Amino acid sequence: MIITVDGPAAAGKGTLSLQLAKKYGLAYFDTGMVYRAVGLLMLLNDRDLGDVAKAEEEAGNLSFVKMMELSSNPEFRSSKGGQAASIVSSYPGVRAKLLDMQKNFAKNPVFADGSRANGVIYDGRDTGTVICPQADVKFFVTATPEVRAKRRYDEFVAKGMDAKYEDVLVDVKARDDRDTNRKDSPMKPADDAIILDTTDMGIEDVYNKVVLIIDEKMAKAG
Ligand code: DC
Repeated sequence: MIITVDGPAAAGKGTLSLQLAKKYGLAYFDTGMVYRAVGLLMLLNDRDLGDVAKAEEEAGNLSFVKMMELSSNPEFRSSKGGQAASIVSSYPGVRAKLLDMQKNFAKNPVFADGSRANGVIYDGRDTGTVICPQADVKFFVTATPEVRAKRRYDEFVAKGMDAKYEDVLVDVKARDDRDTNRKDSPMKPADDAIILDTTDMGIEDVYNKVVLIIDEKMAKAG
């Protein structure tokens, strides 16, 4: 089984995807990681984020193992790391170089310990349209920028990080501008995606609704 969960920054895709991965025994690929890895390499190597050729070079050299290694760097999940990822992800050449790594994951879905998974859950922006158009069930999860900023802010606070709601909101809106509102944005729901506006829903409500949809789809597919 392959499930895709796309949508804007801080929409709760990661939380939902991890819950679904656990329930259905699926390997999880957070595709934002490939762009975060390239963005972080640019920062670590003191590159100008506007240097498209360098970003393409970093993307071309990136391996899955290197990406996992970079993910333990504190900047990987930081606001700065997110903005860097957002910038490099806007370069078509970078996206092209990172395509195979993302697509190939579905060919042999395994967990981190090497054991076989029942399938894959992808989380990102274009996973239902570009990375895995053949997915069995596709979701597009969204919410207002204010609600998404509040969720991200709560996450930072829960981790003991110093954060201000107003700054997080500015950050979410800046990412929306670059990821969603730009002319050639890769982020649009697939024609067959189920769109979930979670503005007025709690995490549990979203999870329960999605599980019902998946179970119904799988029962129909036999
Ligand atoms: O989901 P995230 O915040 O970790 O993603 C980081 C950036 O990567 C995000 O600003 C947009 C980009 N991205 C993308 O362009 N396509 C994806 N499938 C996933 C992320």
